[in-house]
Amino acid sequence: MTQLERSSWHVKDTAVASELIELLGLSDAEKASLKALHGKAQELGPQMTQEFYDRILSQENTAQYMEGADVERLRVSVSDWFSDLFAGDYGTDYAQKRIVIGKIHVKIGLPVRYPLAMLDVVQKYGELVTEGQSEDVKQAFRKVLALDIAIFNQAYEDNQLHHLSELMGNERLARRLLQGDL
Ligand code: HEM
Repeated sequence: MTQLERSSWHVKDTAVASELIELLGLSDAEKASLKALHGKAQELGPQMTQEFYDRILSQENTAQYMEGADVERLRVSVSDWFSDLFAGDYGTDYAQKRIVIGKIHVKIGLPVRYPLAMLDVVQKYGELVTEGQSEDVKQAFRKVLALDIAIFNQAYEDNQLHHLSELMGNERLARRLLQGDL
């Protein structure tokens, strides 16, 4: 099969965030509308975090990852992560922080389905923050959450591509292998 070169393959690291912001059409007005809710997100953060860790600790397969972890520190980190969804600034620093968080989960050997499933809790509290706001603001939140889900997944894909590229000698061959084309 003839292999096409895709321009998306050259979008790396923090450039992924700016590319996606454009794809999602996240406007400056939408960013500002989320920023106005930052305080409310901070208030709801601890409640969100409580439900978040209650769920992780409720099942053996996910609770195992918490053994030896400083859960009190993580509660603060996750609460900050949540309120930062309403930071209103989704530039390079934001993208870099989110990529690092994704990578931390790759490094602890956590299957990606667990963070993805936890987004149910994040979405619930995001909806509470935007409750009573216009449909435009609710949509702005959905966009930022979609951005974060995409960045989280990208960390997992980048890790696979990185290791496979080392084995195969280059990224193009690694991509072909993942496509089932070799
Ligand atoms: C929406 C999903 C998730 C988000 C947003 C999230 C967010 C975070 C954040 C912000 C940190 C702190 C990173 C740092 O040290 O700077 C962290 C660390 C951690 N997370 Fe998550 N997390 C998610 C899902 C999960 C799940 C499902 C588990 C386990 C089942 C988990 C286990 C851990 C562990 C063990 C650490 C500490 C890693 C270390 O310091 O070595 N996370 N997470």
